[in-house]
Formats: sequence, structure tokens, C-alpha cells
Amino acid sequence: MRLDGRVAVITGAGSGIGAASALAMAREGARVVVVDVNEAGAKATVEQIERVGGQALAVRADVTRAADNQMIVEKALAAWGRLDIFFANAGVPQAPEDVEQVDEAIFDRIMAVNVKGVWLGAKYALPVMKKQRRGVFLITASTAAIRPRPGVQAYAASKGAVVTLTKSLALEAASHGVRVVSIAPVATETPMLPTFMGKRVVDEEGRARYVATVPLGRLNQPEDLARTAVFLASDDAAMITGTCVEVDGGRCI
Ligand SMILES: NC(=O)c1ccc[n+]([C@@H]2O[C@H](COP(=O)([O-])OP(=O)(O)OC[C@H]3O[C@@H](n4cnc5c(N)ncnc54)[C@H](O)[C@@H]3O)[C@@H](O)[C@H]2O)c1
Repeated sequence: MRLDGRVAVITGAGSGIGAASALAMAREGARVVVVDVNEAGAKATVEQIERVGGQALAVRADVTRAADNQMIVEKALAAWGRLDIFFANAGVPQAPEDVEQVDEAIFDRIMAVNVKGVWLGAKYALPVMKKQRRGVFLITASTAAIRPRPGVQAYAASKGAVVTLTKSLALEAASHGVRVVSIAPVATETPMLPTFMGKRVVDEEGRARYVATVPLGRLNQPEDLARTAVFLASDDAAMITGTCVEVDGGRCI
């Protein structure tokens, strides 16, 4: 098992990419603090992990709050005495609209969750990892940071910010034996996908329009990102830091 004995915190793990990553990391031997603002979702992920014989803890937290980020790091340390992986994955989408139609409050919310939420995670997780002289801080970015689609300007900017944050944090952490890596998924089959498509549900038109832009000819499943997160968190990725790994079927080419 590639993550045997490791302790992971994953935010936004009550759904989608975070839930799949929590399950995949647990299957590789990690004990997982499953964090989400949606407590029922976090508990459902923990139940899934326990059904396959893994260990996990559900914690309700809002990543935009400093106190909540401090609390989830403390929960990991109190439960299992260390913190090897922090996956800052929680995020919110944007429905496509031209910039002049977007409420300022939408911009503020996207930046609070997708940028400040990640920065706060680093603020509390990195000191622990530096002290241990071991750790991996993962961030979910997006292909929107590299090759945006029209109408999601606030979301694209938020993901661009965390790609740069990845590089900056990686430099700070490297001499302490800690790696920082971001992952850029193309459109992924999770509950947030219809919002990106400007729809209530993913329909044939929306899926076909998106699939047409992916050279490998399909969208991501959450498990595509979970496998990537397991690899990046493991010692197999020991020389990977500061980069953004595109999991996009070639969309960014
Ligand atoms: N689905 C896609 O097409 C896609 C593509 C590229 C990147 N992403 C990114 O992937 C990440 C995961 O999204 P997903 O696709 O799994 O969507 P999702 O909606 O299934 O999961 C997101 C989770 O984050 C949680 N969350 C939102 N705000 C939070 C907060 N303030 N504090 C704690 N938890 C919060 C939600 O409750 C939800 O459970 C996000 O950062 C998203 O931007 C998604």
C-alpha cells in the first residue's frame, strides 16, 4: 500500500473529487480526515471508507474560516499524531456569464473558497509538515487556470491564483522536505459540472459540447483525479514539486 501509515486531510471530501480521493487514499492505507461544509456528505464518505475497512473521521468545516482550518489540522494531530497529506480540494464553480453581468458577491465568494481557503489550509498545515520534515500539500486547480472557457472569468482567475500559490509555497517548503503540487482537472462528472455548463443538469448537448474539446474524447471521472492525488501524495512522486499536473485528456494542448 502506497500510503501506509500516512495521515491525510482532504477538504471538500463530502462529494466528487474529494470523496473519491479520500476513498482512494484510505484504500492505500492512509487514515483520512474527511472535511466538508456539508456534514452529511462528509459522513457518507467516512461510511464508504469504513465499509472497505479503512479509517476516517468526518469533520464539518468551512475552509474560508481561519479557525476552521486550524481546527482540522488539530483534529488530525489529536486523532493520529501526524499530518502527511493536506489536499486543499474544496471549491465552488461559476455559471458562465459575461463579466458585466456577474455580481461582485459571486467574485468574492469564489475567491474566498478557491483562493483564501487554500491559503489558510497552507497557513496551518505547512508548519506541522515542516516540523515533521515530511509532507505533501496538494491543491485542486483547474484547466480553467491554463485554458479558460468563456464566461467563467472569476473562477479561472481563482484557479490561476492557486497555480501560482503552488509554486510560491513549493519554494518555501522545499528545504523542509515538504512538497506542494496542484492538479488541473478538465470537466469532471461531479455535482458542480452542470453549473459550468450553465445548466441545471448535464444533458446530451452539454456533454457533447465539452467532450468535443477533449482530445482523448471523454470527461474525467472523479477517480481519474483520485488516482493522480494518490500518486502525487506518495513517494513515487518524490521529485515532483511546484508544478501543476494537467489531468485533462489533452484539453490544454
Ligand atoms: N467538476 C469539475 O468539472 C471540475 C473541474 C476542474 C476543477 N474542479 C475543482 O475540483 C474541486 C472539487 O470539486 P468537485 O468537482 O468534486 O465538486 P463537488 O461539488 O462534488 O465537491 C465540492 C465540495 O466542496 C465543498 N465545499 C464548498 N465550499 C466549501 C467550504 N467553504 N468549506 C468546505 N467545503 C466546501 C462542497 O460542499 C462539496 O462537497 C474544486 O476545487 C473544483 O473547483 C472541478
